[in-house]
Parts: sequence; C-alpha cells; structure tokens
Amino acid sequence: MTAIHPSILNCDIAHLADELDRVAGADGTGGADGIHVDVMDNHFVPNLSWGLPVVEAVLAHTCLPVDAHLMIRDADRWAPAYAEAGCQIVTPHAEATTAPVRLARELHRLGAGAGIALRPATPLEAVADVLGEFDLLLLMTVEPGFGGQPFIESMMPKIRRARELVGSSGLDLRLQVDGGITSQTIERAAEAGADVFVAGSAVYRVDDALAAIAELREAAATHRHDHGR
Ligand code: DX5
Ligand code: ZN
Repeated sequence: MTAIHPSILNCDIAHLADELDRVAGADGTGGADGIHVDVMDNHFVPNLSWGLPVVEAVLAHTCLPVDAHLMIRDADRWAPAYAEAGCQIVTPHAEATTAPVRLARELHRLGAGAGIALRPATPLEAVADVLGEFDLLLLMTVEPGFGGQPFIESMMPKIRRARELVGSSGLDLRLQVDGGITSQTIERAAEAGADVFVAGSAVYRVDDALAAIAELREAAATHRHDHGR
C-alpha cells in the first residue's frame, strides 16, 4: 500500500494546528496517510527542531497516525517516550542506537511500531540481520538535518536492494524514503521498491497541499514496484 506522510519540518509552525488540518483531507479521506515529525537534537544532525512536548501537541490535535523520525543521539534512552506518547511508529537512527533489538522490543512493548533509519552513507548491511525486529526501514535520500534538499540519486540502488532483501526474506516491513521527494523523484523511488513516502516541501511549500498529496500518491501508485502486495 502506497502511503504519503507529509513532514511538518518546514510547515508554518506558528499555525501548526492549521497546517496539520491542511493535509488531513475532508472526513479523514483523500489526505495524508500519516504525519512525519522530525525530531532533531543539534548533535546527531546540525539542526534543532523540537522534542516530545511538540510531538505530544501534534498527537493531541491530529487524527492521523504520527511517525516520529528521531534524528537524535542516544536513541536507546529517548525513543521510548515517543512510543508512550502515542506515536504509531517511532524511528530512531541505526547510527544512534547501541542496542537496536532491545529498543525495537521496548517500542513494541509500549504499543508502537518500530522503525530504523539509515543515513545515506550507512550500508543496509548495518541492519540486515536485525530487520525482522522492525516494522519499517527508513532510507534517507538526503543527508538528514534539513528540508528542501535535492534527492540523492545514488540512493536508488540501495532502495532496490532493500526491496530485494525484504522480498527474499519474507519480512513484513514497510520501506520508507525521506528527503527530496517530488512528483518526479517519487516515481523512481516507487519503482525501486519504496512504499512509504515522506514529503515536506512538496506538500507544504505549495498552495494546495491536498492536490500535491494526490499527485504524489498517483505518481507512486502508477510506478509501484511489483512486490506482490
Ligand atoms: C530531513 C528530514 C525530512 C525532511 C523532508 O532531515 O528527515 O523529513 O523534512 O523534507 P523535504 O521533503 O523537503 O526533503
Ligand atoms: Zn524525516
């Protein structure tokens, strides 16, 4: 199932509630499939966004599932609180957790899905042997830290290999791509095998966010990789 998750990183923060409503669609249909919240600590990435209080405010306002992308150090310590708060899926970076299996099990125990994210330069092999513990693999298609960057084309083989790995091992794993997703790049990422697409600028930096989401969903669905779902 193709899913579009707008990233609120570059939305109009002063009007956060309106910005969440803008992508929700009438009666919860036709809009975003989830909200992607980028948590940054100015250590793991050279930028600071927000932490748990803002994520709690987002959760209190929106009916959409929230996926928390944690670009923070020491995820083993900080990630569980995002599961307790009610995020549907919590995605720490592989580079920032020392015990990913224990963390995934803790997130599950707290009622959330567990994701694991890789920076562009981190090979799939870093997590291949523990993927069975996770519900989602996030492949960064820009260097994490900022919205509005161009998609790194050389990530395409990694997406393809990730899809092959998921297919050959029979894992029930969503494959999320994040960074530089536009109505053009989404076609190639979908062809390569991604099925959950984060889009910040492409949704929030246009007048009609719902039309942008519909266009992205259509482009991804049309170019959907045949992976037997
Ligand atoms: C970057 C974040 C992304 C970003 C996406 O570190 O993880 O979620 O906000 O923004 P766009 O779609 O503009 O690249
Ligand atoms: Zn993100």
